[in-house]
Amino acid sequence: MILLWMARNPWLREHLPRLGFVRRAVHRFMPGEDADSAFGAAAGLAANGQGILFTRLGENLAVLAEADEVAAHYRALLDREGSLPRRPELSVKPTQLGLDIDAEACFRHLDGLAGLAGGAGTWLWLDMEGSTYVDATLDLYERLRAAHPNVGICLQAYLKRTPRDLWRLLPLAPAVRLVKGAYDEPATIAYRRRAEVDAAYQALALVLAEAARDGRARCALGTHDSGLIERIASFADAAGVSRGSLEVHMLYGIRARELVRLQAAGFPAFTLIAYGSFWYPWYMRRLAERPANVLFALRQILP
Ligand code: FDA
Repeated sequence: MILLWMARNPWLREHLPRLGFVRRAVHRFMPGEDADSAFGAAAGLAANGQGILFTRLGENLAVLAEADEVAAHYRALLDREGSLPRRPELSVKPTQLGLDIDAEACFRHLDGLAGLAGGAGTWLWLDMEGSTYVDATLDLYERLRAAHPNVGICLQAYLKRTPRDLWRLLPLAPAVRLVKGAYDEPATIAYRRRAEVDAAYQALALVLAEAARDGRARCALGTHDSGLIERIASFADAAGVSRGSLEVHMLYGIRARELVRLQAAGFPAFTLIAYGSFWYPWYMRRLAERPANVLFALRQILP
């Protein structure tokens, strides 16, 4: 949990990213700080039939003008005729578009991006941030979904409220990316033991999978836990859900070979590629997910 505390600490946020070894270590999860690096990393994956999601790192802005700049960046990205066979999908954090400061301005940015994404034949996804943002993010999603078919949302299985949230969204024929959850949430509102989180994930995934089978949802399993994916797939199979309805979304740099294996086994595969200069809190959450990553980062100190 110390890593998640470090992710939020303002002094560390400012100073740690300047250290050379931290910058070197982050390249394991991030091909570079600009969109060109992201397109470069995507090319080979897309050529092998994977879907691509891009996210420019950033969250919790200080002034609303920064949201205008972020939205302009994403608009240019949607306009960009890249070399990829399919347009990349976008995944954005609502606080990166000003949710903290002005929820209406945030909605207008998202609405504009969803319209552009639709015109370009691709999708816009909302990431899910800390628990204090869940209600506002669900509200944003409901409004967006009323106007756009091509919008998705992330739900976190560790939150005890998520089954209710999923049932609330299902009548909208939603696109849902189910993840375990990456923030430090208290036991009053979140499962903290791995077995509990996995059980919650499996139960939610099966509800979503059945909706996908009936054409009432797009189901994305946002996890690197291939054992869990296989268990879900076998239960889903018994309920008549084909693997082709169960997308698997993984983060760039994590279990890439496993994603290729799952793709060959019939799951539509997507890699989410993050890039940008504001990577520190995002990177600390990746370290927190797997203590071995800290050793990997420390090894970068050695020549
Ligand atoms: P778990 O932690 O059980 O890991 C399973 C296996 O995967 C591990 O044994 C290890 O081999 C490997 N692994 C997992 N994480 C690793 C890492 N960091 N480094 C190296 N190996 C690792 N969360 C959130 O709260 N809001 C969001 O919007 C998103 N969005 C999102 C999108 C996508 C596409 C993914 C894959 C994940 C997210 N997450 C997220 C993060 C998610 O909540 C969760 O923290 C991570 O995916 C890690 O959990 P796993 O499901 O991979 O399982």
